[in-house]
Amino acid sequence: MTNSLRVRLLWWLLVPLAIYVFVTGKAAYDNARHTADLVQENTLLASARMIAGEVEWSDGRLLVDIPPAALEVFASPEGDQVFYNVSVDDGRLLAGVPDFPTRAAAHRDTPDYYDADLDGKPIRAVGFVRQMYDNGAIRRVLVSVGKTQASRDAMVRELWRPQLVRQIEMVLLAVALACIGLTFELRPLLKVKKEVMDRDPMQLEPLRVERMHTELRPIVEAINQCIARLGLQVAAQRRFIADAAHQLRTPLTLLETQLQFARQHCEMEPSLNETLAAMQRSNRSMVGLTNKLLLLAQAEAADYTQLARRKVDLAVIAQDVIEDLAMFAQKREIDLGAELDGAAWIIGHEGLLTALVYNLVENAIRYTQAGGHVTVAVTRDAPRVTLSVIDDGPGIPAEARSRVFEPFYRASADTEGTGLGLAIAKEIVQAHRGEIVLAHRAHPDRGVIVTAVFTDVS
Ligand SMILES: Nc1ncnc2c1ncn2[C@@H]1O[C@H](COP(=O)(O)OP(=O)(O)O)[C@@H](O)[C@H]1O
Ligand SMILES: [Mg+2]
Repeated sequence: MTNSLRVRLLWWLLVPLAIYVFVTGKAAYDNARHTADLVQENTLLASARMIAGEVEWSDGRLLVDIPPAALEVFASPEGDQVFYNVSVDDGRLLAGVPDFPTRAAAHRDTPDYYDADLDGKPIRAVGFVRQMYDNGAIRRVLVSVGKTQASRDAMVRELWRPQLVRQIEMVLLAVALACIGLTFELRPLLKVKKEVMDRDPMQLEPLRVERMHTELRPIVEAINQCIARLGLQVAAQRRFIADAAHQLRTPLTLLETQLQFARQHCEMEPSLNETLAAMQRSNRSMVGLTNKLLLLAQAEAADYTQLARRKVDLAVIAQDVIEDLAMFAQKREIDLGAELDGAAWIIGHEGLLTALVYNLVENAIRYTQAGGHVTVAVTRDAPRVTLSVIDDGPGIPAEARSRVFEPFYRASADTEGTGLGLAIAKEIVQAHRGEIVLAHRAHPDRGVIVTAVFTDVS
């Protein structure tokens, strides 16, 4: 049997209902038969009595004159055939069909009903005995009347069919209502399923239990406990990465100083100096990676409700970042511009938001060819504040677009980088309950537009 809860519940409903219909249907059929038999037997008896009433002595002989009314009582649209037989106990046939299957055992005045066969046709018959006295002579006259079963069967059908139809209708109605009810009542279950399925992998809030069926609650609570344990696990992992990155910084800083010192004292040896310079570059990219890892861990751990509930001006942050990166832009011959129209207050963490703008602008400058333009815009359009970083560089290849927000994913291998910049940006925006989207400028203008939208609180 299928595993669908709905189908199984329907079966549990259908099987007992079917049994119920069968049992009551059978009882109704028996009742209908009983009633039809009674009616038929009464008619048979009335007819037999009428015929018996017409038997009389005439000149010492028994005679009978069959009254038409005795047979008219059987008139029916089904056109049943009626047979009769009137015979005396000395074997003489007074009237009717000679080979009528009479029953000899009939007692006086007690009608005897029985099923028989006449010319291969099943009939229901009655035998009725009348005693005739004449001059001390007693004769038993047996009147038998039988008829075929068509009208009786029709009556059974008429009595029974409507009941059966009504019951089947009721069952169908019950099934339909049950289907509707099940669909309706199973909706919370489907809602839970949808809520679990639609979840972001990192969305670790518990599912809501209120307004849930009592039966569903333990399941949802179990899921919630599982989510909570997962949350602890994830938090521990993040803490580990943050701690590791933090711990790495000290030896790396020390290494930087040592390399500097070594380079200052080996100017005599050009090849050694070169090696040291290469080591210094590696060390710096390691420092960069460690810092980004730490930043990513911080951004992931940041929670809107726990963020310093401070208002910050995103326009000021953008301005500061532009100033910081002006030299870098100049070096890469990029025209770095700003479109800021006054203060744009949002709730957030200044350090993280600075990192966000920094990463986006740095990307735009880094991936745009010399002579390109990068624009940083902060616009207020209540209830939103929008930060956009627009460039006219080569853009991101279509197949890479969906993945650039993943940690360590890089679409260009020829420049240096960690692949963490956009992952960090996304985490920071999400921690601020904002939304970040990547768009492309239409042809013929090329380039990327990264937009982050926050809630205006000015
Ligand atoms: N403005 C941009 N123009 C073109 N490509 C970009 C731009 N910003 C990001 N990318 C692509 O997205 C990838 C991921 O960016 P990011 O996460 O900052 O990592 P990284 O800059 O360290 O490579 C980059 O490798 C780059 O190929
Ligand atoms: Mg980057």
